[in-house]
Amino acid sequence: MSGEKQQKMEELAALCRQCDSCGLCLGRHNVVFGVGDPDAEVMFIGEGPGEQEDLRGEPFVGKAGILLDKYLAAIDLDRHKNIYIANIVKCRPPQNRDPEDKEQDTCLPWLRKQFAVIRPKIIVCLGRIAAARIIKPDIRITREHGKLFRKGGVIMMPVLHPAALLRNPRDKAPALEDFLRLQELIKNECEHTYGPD
Ligand code: URA
Repeated sequence: MSGEKQQKMEELAALCRQCDSCGLCLGRHNVVFGVGDPDAEVMFIGEGPGEQEDLRGEPFVGKAGILLDKYLAAIDLDRHKNIYIANIVKCRPPQNRDPEDKEQDTCLPWLRKQFAVIRPKIIVCLGRIAAARIIKPDIRITREHGKLFRKGGVIMMPVLHPAALLRNPRDKAPALEDFLRLQELIKNECEHTYGPD
């Protein structure tokens, strides 16, 4: 991990923890800034923190996160080693409702600053909200998950949100296919060794 990127990210996180630019700050226990290696070539983006994430200050640590970690492990990815995970909004929307457009707009500059530090080669959008924000507003996640999009030199893949997979277990097999495709993509596009230790 390069010390420089790590330090930049810590400085950004410290600033973000003071953010009170939208109403979501009123109900939060923690700002959920992001987790992982800022040197990673692959970045995952979710929608926003849920209850567990809000309590622990880390993205994807509830039931959906446990499932996500299994898919990551299946393709030799690890949230603490070779990827970075962040969300569109950094504070929990009440009752886990979708983040409103205005909340997303207000929070997006933090994500842009994270991109600027990490400069990922591949972005994986977890679910419709992230894919609509990052890839294209009219994305049809049920039809377009697993497809590749290119924007500004970055390869982007929308995948089904792990919380949706918990609700619809029949989608777990196609979701795994998307992750296997991602593994191939990483092998072809990334310089770092992404295999097992
Ligand atoms: N769902 C998300 O989109 N992000 C999280 O961090 C947790 C659940």
